[in-house]
Amino acid sequence: KNIVILISGGGSNMAAIVRAAQRDDWRQRHGAVVRAVISNRADARGLAFAREQGIAAEVVDHKPFATREAFDDALAATIDRHAPALVVLAGFMRILTPGFVARYAGRLVNIHPSLLPAFPGLHTHQRALEAGCRFTGATVHQVTAELDHGPILDQAVVPILAGDTPEAIAARVLTQEHIVYPRAIAQLLPRLQEVHAS
Ligand code: GRF
Repeated sequence: KNIVILISGGGSNMAAIVRAAQRDDWRQRHGAVVRAVISNRADARGLAFAREQGIAAEVVDHKPFATREAFDDALAATIDRHAPALVVLAGFMRILTPGFVARYAGRLVNIHPSLLPAFPGLHTHQRALEAGCRFTGATVHQVTAELDHGPILDQAVVPILAGDTPEAIAARVLTQEHIVYPRAIAQLLPRLQEVHAS
């Protein structure tokens, strides 16, 4: 089963998934392997890590495309060359069209840095702080057409401490993301069908 990971930046979640796949030897246990990392930004730092690991690292820049649909079509064409059983969004900062989401229905997952359904969208840690939350966290969920919605696969809970800043919370949440995302994927893999290149 091929896994394709989409990133836009640092790619620390992507790296955690790649490492877990190596450590747990998902190839043996699930017949699963991370085949490609695709970024919409050529300067995404995670691309270098992927290349070092011998994983195909590709860029589909969104800027030349006039519409979201045209970008998503080009992105899907690049993804589909790797015949993915699972497409993983890991800090991929583009809103995806309903057509794209439908194409990968049931095999498209995302991680969001809040305890969904609280705080979909951006600036989650700032908003959790302002709301006076004592806890926040991260949610791994199936992707549906509505942003940061969709069935929840797993969550990690993180305390908000006195004197916290959004940056401090982000760092605390990110370390938990690196645990919960590989775990959620490992649990999902047995339910996914292998896809063969056409
Ligand atoms: C993570 O906090 C993720 O939840 C959010 O963006 C961040 C990506 O970090 N959507 P990285 O690129 O995986 O390091």
